[in-house]
Amino acid sequence: MDFTRLIQIQLSDDTEIKPFRCAEDDLNGFLFDDAKHFQKELMAVTYLLEDLQENVTVAYFSLLADKISFNPDERNVWNRLNRNIPNPKRRRNYPAVKIGRLAVNEKYAGTGVGTFVLDNIKYAFTTVKRLGCRFITVDALMSAAPFYEKNGFRFFTDLDKDEETRLMFFDLKNFA
Ligand SMILES: CC(C)(COP(=O)(O)OP(=O)(O)OC[C@H]1O[C@@H](n2cnc3c(N)ncnc32)[C@H](O)[C@@H]1OP(=O)(O)O)[C@@H](O)C(=O)NCCC(=O)NCCS
Repeated sequence: MDFTRLIQIQLSDDTEIKPFRCAEDDLNGFLFDDAKHFQKELMAVTYLLEDLQENVTVAYFSLLADKISFNPDERNVWNRLNRNIPNPKRRRNYPAVKIGRLAVNEKYAGTGVGTFVLDNIKYAFTTVKRLGCRFITVDALMSAAPFYEKNGFRFFTDLDKDEETRLMFFDLKNFA
């Protein structure tokens, strides 16, 4: 996949969203019916990746603020997560950015676009530094969990292992 053909734009009220379809109907619906409302209410910001040659939306993702919090029932998880954080900086909450939605156009699935999106998010939050943000979080659909694992995300807890989505996180300190 030639990523130089792609441009990333932030959704705005007057954006005409180019055709998009992925395997998850909810995610198709969100892009066309809900993303602008979420943005207007300052609940999530959506970005689109467009293919300049094909006039389609290749992928989109939505971001919102989040935090990872200590849970007394999950001391092991917290100890593991803290290992990477120097003692004086250890807290009971850490700032995070949540991937509220991420989807790749089915015509482009499996070509590395999803990984490209995640790398861009990791890069943005470790270089621009407009705010402190240590982790990326995502409530991953079970079907997408292996994709996030391949991109360095880990499960936060086993308590949600039978749920439809599982909380996963990526420590931005691990992004070189
Ligand atoms: C999940 C999704 C975002 C992955 O994007 P993608 O562009 O297809 O992923 P990539 O090509 O970057 O794949 C990276 C690696 O993850 C693997 N992978 C991707 N999706 C996978 C899946 N659903 N199950 C298992 N492995 C998967 C790829 O095989 C690849 O492995 P490799 O490095 O060994 O070759 C995309 O398929 C999609 O939009 N799916 C429908 C919507 C969805 O589930 N979104 C996530 C909501 S939480």
